Amino acid sequence: MQKEIIMLEFRRAKTFDVNEIVRLEENNFSSERYTEKMINDILKSDDNDYILVAEDSNEILGYIIYREQDEYIDIFKICVSENYRNKKIGTGLIQYLEKYVHKKRLILEVRSDNKGAIVFYEKNHFKKIHIKKNYYENPISDAYIYEKRIIEGTND
Ligand SMILES: CC(C)(COP(=O)(O)OP(=O)(O)OC[C@H]1O[C@@H](n2cnc3c(N)ncnc32)[C@H](O)[C@@H]1OP(=O)(O)O)[C@@H](O)C(=O)NCCC(=O)NCCS
Repeated sequence: MQKEIIMLEFRRAKTFDVNEIVRLEENNFSSERYTEKMINDILKSDDNDYILVAEDSNEILGYIIYREQDEYIDIFKICVSENYRNKKIGTGLIQYLEKYVHKKRLILEVRSDNKGAIVFYEKNHFKKIHIKKNYYENPISDAYIYEKRIIEGTND
């Protein structure tokens, strides 16, 4: 049953979150899924890879997987549980990174056929900067590279 009021808390994922994140991967992605091993490797990573979760009452409603590069944040994946979409949870995850991980830019790749995600990124002020032709498989699709430059002190 969907709750009326969502009290989001943002925090780094821990090993006890792995099963829930894997379940959300299986429910929300038909390809490019992260497996249990991949999620565990990220949590143990020395490569500055992290997972930020948005939770309410111990339930993970969304998460973002990213790498902190020297100058920018590389976003590998963002996901919001289907029943909780269009409630600004995805926007909240992006804004949390902007505010608390102090980098000048966010970068990501998205399938050109993922129209919903593209609208979401553009509403969050990402700009398309590059196209990789036929980059993805199953089905074949271009990759769009999006960038957002962060202006300190704003959330836009
Ligand atoms: C993309 C995703 C993370 C968006 O999360 P969300 O919490 O539902 O997004 P928000 O509520 O913050 O939406 C912000 C804006 O984007 C728009 N938007 C979000 N998803 C959209 C969609 N599928 N189609 C059209 N517009 C969309 C919202 O309407 C909102 O617009 P507004 O500012 O005018 O009100 C979520 O739909 C999702 O998990 N999708 C499946 C996984 C996926 O494809 N991830 C991206 C590739 S890794």
